[in-house]
Amino acid sequence: MQRSQSPAGRAHQESGMSRHYDVGAVRKEFPAVERITYLDAGFQTPLARPVKAAIDLFLREGLETAGPKSVWLDRVELTREKLARFLGVAADEIAFTKNTSESMNIAANALPLRAGDKVLMIHGDHPNNAYAFLNLRRKGVTVEFVPMTEIVNADSLRPHIDASTRAISMSQVTFHAGHRFDVESVGALCDEQGLYFVVDVMQAIGVVPIDAKAMRATFIGSGSHKGLLVPQGLGLLYWDKSRIELEPAYLAAASLAEVPADLIARPDQLELAPSARRFELGNFNLPAIHALGASLDMIEALGVQNIQNHCLDLGDHLIAGLDALDVRLVGPRDRQHRAPHIYVIALPAAEWLGHFEQNGVRVSPERDGIRVSFGMFNTFADVDRLIDIIKRRGVKPSSRAA
Ligand SMILES: Cc1ncc(COP(=O)(O)O)c(C=O)c1O
Repeated sequence: MQRSQSPAGRAHQESGMSRHYDVGAVRKEFPAVERITYLDAGFQTPLARPVKAAIDLFLREGLETAGPKSVWLDRVELTREKLARFLGVAADEIAFTKNTSESMNIAANALPLRAGDKVLMIHGDHPNNAYAFLNLRRKGVTVEFVPMTEIVNADSLRPHIDASTRAISMSQVTFHAGHRFDVESVGALCDEQGLYFVVDVMQAIGVVPIDAKAMRATFIGSGSHKGLLVPQGLGLLYWDKSRIELEPAYLAAASLAEVPADLIARPDQLELAPSARRFELGNFNLPAIHALGASLDMIEALGVQNIQNHCLDLGDHLIAGLDALDVRLVGPRDRQHRAPHIYVIALPAAEWLGHFEQNGVRVSPERDGIRVSFGMFNTFADVDRLIDIIKRRGVKPSSRAA
């Protein structure tokens, strides 16, 4: 039986701490994780105090002063800059959206695809990405789904590329079994073949370091209610601004290079903003964007690489615990191909979800079992508690490792 925990991980597990940052201090910012064993960050983040403080400030300003909108908008631009730095891109390559679905739909509809063109996607990848492209059937565009194997990289996609292929769209990290796809190699393949590349980073962002340029993505889309720690309703879109030919399907004053000073729309003044603002529509979700500014500060203070490594250590510990019980892990095991923070245990969700709930542990039901997902605040003790609950109940042979 494989034992995957490193000696350093073992030492820190014994002391209950992380070798990457002070988890005890982080936990103080997330009151919910002191009340329940929260192993569901891949579903939604618990609220952190600094994120709440940013929202509270917005509400207080609105209540007491009816809102200094120019101050609020300045904060939007500051957050845009922070987010751009976080992804290794320029601020004018970032647009704010409502969620991942909206970002993916903006991207799908901006690509110059025509009848007969084909888009490659991964079978079983997140539906909020898939439907954006499936909806292009109205234009006669088809989607071919490539099988989801444990490792997905350029070699998995290359055999499916033919003369009609125009784009590839996929997640960096899968939501249901924690695969981490090699998006860098797929980006290089797209570059080589002249294909557009659209990446959904919703499950990766805030936990896996993202370098949009290394990924060679045309568009990257995400929401912010998981690793980015913000409540639902805010998304982001990165657009490679060298792809100036890509135009939005929708238009608002904000999308234009110049808004007429008298605010009278003129048919002969429709030049698009040279920035990603061309993809933005109307007013912003201000409190959520301000909250994102605060959460990016939190993430940067720890370092996303450290968050990733801490989650990987927790994952090693979880895998070792499951191995000791002879319980099967559904997704990839090795550090290179697995998401740092998402693990699916082969325990039937219908039988186990309620049991975890009764024992004060929050996890998610998934296609093939129970999904455990870590956030920056989780500890080795959280994992031990989960393992102990499984051990005390006992598992059926169907959950055992082969
Ligand atoms: C990979 C992935 N994409 C997208 C989403 C969510 O889409 P949206 O932000 O539109 O709600 C999720 C999970 O909620 C996800 O795991």
